[in-house]
Amino acid sequence: MSDLDTLVQEARALFESCQTPAELENAKAQFLGKSGHITLMMKGLGALSVEDKKAQGALINKSKVAIEEALNSKRAGLALAELEVQLKAEAIDVTLPGRSSAQGGLHPVSLTLERIEGIFGSMGFDVAQGPEIETDWFNFTALNTPPDHPARSMHDTFYVEGDYVLRTHTSPMQIRYAVEHVRRHKEALEAGLPMPEIRVIAPGRTYRVDSDATHSPMFHQCEGLWLGEQVSFKDLKVVFTNFCYSFFETRDLELRFRPSFFPFTEPSAEIDIQFASGPLAGRWLEVAGSGQVHPKVVSNMGLDPEKYIGFAFGMGPDRLTMLRYGVNDLRLFFDGDLRFLGQFR
Ligand code: DAH
Repeated sequence: MSDLDTLVQEARALFESCQTPAELENAKAQFLGKSGHITLMMKGLGALSVEDKKAQGALINKSKVAIEEALNSKRAGLALAELEVQLKAEAIDVTLPGRSSAQGGLHPVSLTLERIEGIFGSMGFDVAQGPEIETDWFNFTALNTPPDHPARSMHDTFYVEGDYVLRTHTSPMQIRYAVEHVRRHKEALEAGLPMPEIRVIAPGRTYRVDSDATHSPMFHQCEGLWLGEQVSFKDLKVVFTNFCYSFFETRDLELRFRPSFFPFTEPSAEIDIQFASGPLAGRWLEVAGSGQVHPKVVSNMGLDPEKYIGFAFGMGPDRLTMLRYGVNDLRLFFDGDLRFLGQFR
C-alpha cells in the first residue's frame, strides 16, 4: 500500500472518529489545511521533474479528492445526527390527548332573561335597556314616589354623589322609554293623530341595601309597560298569564292578582302563581308587582292621563330562575361557582 493510500485511510479513520463538527474541522486541517499532509505534498512537487510532477500530482489529487469525499460524507452524517437530536428534543407527541377547553354557557339568569325577551317579543313587546346609575327624578320622583317614601331611605338605597342612585328597580325605564316614544311621535301627537301603543319590557340589574338567602344587593328586574288608549287590566291578566304558561312550559298553574300598593300604579296588585303539581304545588308564590299606570306617571311621560291608560309590571328574573330550576338560595347565582353554574344549559 502506498503512502498516499495509507494517508487516505488515516483520514477516513480520523474523520469517522469525530463526534462533533468542530472536531471534524480540526481533523480536516491535518490533511487539507495550510500545513496539512496533502498541501505539503503538493508543495513538494516543485522539486520533481515535469514527468514525475504530472504522475505524482495526479496521485496526490486523487487522494485529496478521496479525503474530501470522506470529509463531506462525515459532515453530512454529523449534520443529520444533529438534526435528529434536535427533532427528538422538539418532538410533538401527536398521540397525547388535547387539552380540553371548558365549554362555556350562559348564566342561568341570562337564560331566563333570554326566555323573557323571547316570550314578550312574540307578544309584540320591544326590549329596552337603561342606565344603572339613575337620577332621583327617574328612579323616584317621576314615578310618583314621594320624598318620605321608605324606598328613598339610606337603609334601602345606594346613593351616589350628586343627584344619583343605583337604580332600585327597573321602573324608571317606563318613564325613559315613554318620553322617548312621545318624542318620536311628537308630530302625530300634535296633529291629534293616534300614537302607536307603547309596549316594552326593560330587563336589567338593580340595587338595594339587602342581603340574605333571597335577597342580594345586586339583583335583576324586568319591567313591563303597555300603554295606549284602550289597554285594560284584562290585557294585563292575559299577557301575564300567557307569559307564565310559556315561561314555565305548563298550563298547570293558576294566577292570583292580590291587591297591593305601589306609588306608580292605581290600582296595584301583586301577582302570585301556584303550580297544580310538582315540588312547589299548593303554595302561592309571588312573582311580580303590577298595576294600572298612575295618572301622575302618565303625565310625567308627557301624555294626557285622560286619554292614555295602561298597565305596568315588574318581575324578578332571579326569583323566576329559582322557581324554574328549583334553586333555594339566590346567592348561588352570584358566587361564581362553576360547579353550580355549569348545570344550566
Ligand atoms: N318597581 C316595583 C318594585 O321594585 C315593582 C313594580 C310594581 C313594578 C308594580 C311595576 C309595577 O311596574 O306596576 O318593587
